[in-house]
Amino acid sequence: MHAIEKLQAILVDRFKRRALAHTLVSPRAEAWTLTGYLWAEEGAEGLAVGDALRAEAPPWLRRMLTRQLEDEARHAALLRARLVALGRPARDPSAAAGAVLRAKVRRLERLCARAAPRFERGAIVPLLACAARLEATGARVFARHVEVHAAHGREDDTTRALRALLDDERRHARSCAAALGRLVAPAERPALAALEDEVARVDRALGVSTAAATWVVTTALRLRDAAARSAA
Ligand SMILES: [Fe+2]
Ligand SMILES: [Fe+2]
Repeated sequence: MHAIEKLQAILVDRFKRRALAHTLVSPRAEAWTLTGYLWAEEGAEGLAVGDALRAEAPPWLRRMLTRQLEDEARHAALLRARLVALGRPARDPSAAAGAVLRAKVRRLERLCARAAPRFERGAIVPLLACAARLEATGARVFARHVEVHAAHGREDDTTRALRALLDDERRHARSCAAALGRLVAPAERPALAALEDEVARVDRALGVSTAAATWVVTTALRLRDAAARSAA
């Protein structure tokens, strides 16, 4: 990772940890954050695995991806149930959030179409590379959230749900990476490494501005909760 990318990663992590600290004291900020996870699960992560499953995949990989897709459906249901329990049922993505998610998925789809001819196994390789990256990103997001809860001594149903998601995403990231290792011939390894860099660039795009926006929104929601409490 280059110095500028390291700096970006540090900034993203700081903004996100501060935003997560707001979720500990603000039900609105907590629900907003869980809703964002739900949209990511349904809008990008599940889509990448689903596309990989529809591509030409050997039977062992189809079985793995089918199980993974079942896990993703369970994740979405868990997040929806948690939002209902918080009294804030999930909403559909706003126009802006939906546009950002769709733009990311479209960029990944274009990248997959471009990269498929570079591999003997074809489209399944770039699709799986995207799934592996999104699973690893999901694991990092949930790990950070669980760490913030632990640092503040919080242990509740949200913590338990996040921990369950984290365990699954780590397993998914590992099995996608292992599957890529099985599918790609040794001579194709440099092409895979280059593709993984491209996927990471798309995944990271707008990272700092999105993290800063997350912090701004959660700060505003925390202030709204504080105002509602003092008015009550
Ligand atoms: Fe998931
Ligand atoms: Fe996953």
